[in-house]
Amino acid sequence: MATAPRRHSAPLAWLVPAVLTGSAAPFVLLSFRAATGRLGANPIATALNQLGLLALVFLVACLACTPAKILFGVAWPIRIRKTLGLLAFSTACLHFLLYVVVDQGLRLGTVLNDVVKRPFIAVGFTALVLLVPLAATSTREALTRLGFKRWKRLHRLVYAVAVLAGIHFRMRVKADAREPFVWLAIIAALLLVRVVDGFRGGASARRKRSALAES
Ligand code: HEM
Repeated sequence: MATAPRRHSAPLAWLVPAVLTGSAAPFVLLSFRAATGRLGANPIATALNQLGLLALVFLVACLACTPAKILFGVAWPIRIRKTLGLLAFSTACLHFLLYVVVDQGLRLGTVLNDVVKRPFIAVGFTALVLLVPLAATSTREALTRLGFKRWKRLHRLVYAVAVLAGIHFRMRVKADAREPFVWLAIIAALLLVRVVDGFRGGASARRKRSALAES
């Protein structure tokens, strides 16, 4: 009797737990450095910068999932896209909370003043605010409620968030701007892959429609 063929696509149930476990490492390291006084002369600024950078890393990793599928035909990054997006949002919230609670001592007037008067803070704040509807609609129920087209359109906002985050980074550094420019270049390249793929998809859909109309 013939046996059922073995499934080659492993269920990859370990992928999300592995990402979550791995992503805990920088937080553990940062907490350890903070607890043992190893954050340098300005520990609050160091922790703020580390969390900001980490939020950007998660955001760009999330953004890279679909281009990875387009370019290399691998589907597994799509499975961790939502996790990476939520990690980016949570880390950006921690970054913001550290700024509000520890750096500004919960003086909300000063925070508001900073958001209004310091363009670099305004840009970071806008990025965080734009992430809120994306995190809020990251569930399957929200996708069903909105419908795939509207959900997809809304989630394109993630590119605006990434560009704002890159600009926020660029505005913060005063001397050597190479690092934020590298991040902005990566974000631009990922966006380009999506745009080119969108045009190619649109062209092939148009070709299919006209072939159907002619038949
Ligand atoms: C998506 C949201 C955000 C991302 C991805 C982000 C990212 C970053 C990055 C990459 C840095 C520089 C890290 C470095 O120099 O190594 C940074 C610094 C900073 N961010 Fe954000 N940020 C975000 C939102 C915000 C918000 C909402 C605020 C406050 C309202 C904020 C306040 C700051 C401050 C004060 C610093 C500089 C710390 C210092 O130099 O002392 N950021 N952020």
